[in-house]
Amino acid sequence: MPPFAERFKGRCGLVTAGAAGLGEGTALRLAREGAEVAVWDRDAEGLAALVAQASKEGLTLVTETLDLTDADQVTGAARRLEQRLGGIDVLVNNVGGSLHTPQRFLDQSDEDWARVVAVNLTACVLATRALLPGMAARGYGRIVNLGSKAGRYGSLFAGANYSAAKGAVQAFTLQIAQEFGPQGITCNSVCPGAILTPRVEGLLKERQSEAERAAVLRSIPMRRHGRVEDVAAAVAFLASEEAGFITGAALDVNGGQAMSL
Ligand SMILES: NC(=O)c1ccc[n+]([C@@H]2O[C@H](COP(=O)([O-])OP(=O)(O)OC[C@H]3O[C@@H](n4cnc5c(N)ncnc54)[C@H](O)[C@@H]3O)[C@@H](O)[C@H]2O)c1
Repeated sequence: MPPFAERFKGRCGLVTAGAAGLGEGTALRLAREGAEVAVWDRDAEGLAALVAQASKEGLTLVTETLDLTDADQVTGAARRLEQRLGGIDVLVNNVGGSLHTPQRFLDQSDEDWARVVAVNLTACVLATRALLPGMAARGYGRIVNLGSKAGRYGSLFAGANYSAAKGAVQAFTLQIAQEFGPQGITCNSVCPGAILTPRVEGLLKERQSEAERAAVLRSIPMRRHGRVEDVAAAVAFLASEEAGFITGAALDVNGGQAMSL
């Protein structure tokens, strides 16, 4: 990306759940554009593979293995990270997912509901709470939360628990944007449609026939599913200095699908 090679020079960023999928793509993108990047994930092997991949490009990542839904682990990791990097400028709250719980509301158990809310909403709140004070003290911050098309329009594919949790992430984004704007912090969300990560590929195959999949593609004006790079580019823009007058926004990254469903 030559035009943006230095966009994050001198900036430090954290991407949660960055050992795979969209988080991995976003972490690499920020690092390629000059940021010092930390990645938190519970998958130690995935983190090691990411570090190895990054080092082939001459990039160094700071990683920590933790459960992002555990408040004590998040607080401790945030303290260590701020000591090590001297402060975080960019927080990408990427952790989340529907956890393959049943699609239909009445088939979802209380436990399904609690797990999905924990990983999508509570984990976003915990990391934000841990890192916001440092941003506020330094008068600069960019927070980008991963919402979803499901959180804006509902999703028969992902289910009520996921849609509700992502909708709450959206409301949380608006609140943080209002409360912390005066301290130089923006907070926005990126709301992807289906993005073809290896996990989503598997889920689509499991839950949609070929004919259903073709019908979904016809409903997307851009006539394709999203790619990891589509989301990483949107996150990087909102995380950049030049997006400093954008806050509380929800940026759809769905090929226009939401207009036609
Ligand atoms: N992929 C899509 O199509 C899509 C669409 C809309 C929104 N999103 C959102 O984008 C974000 C990333 O999605 P993805 O598809 O890349 O995810 P993914 O399932 O491919 O990767 C998830 C990563 O999160 C880690 N993780 C899960 N729970 C964790 C926990 N409790 N603590 C620490 N790490 C944990 C996993 O180890 C894994 O590395 C999520 O918030 C998801 O809801 C994804």
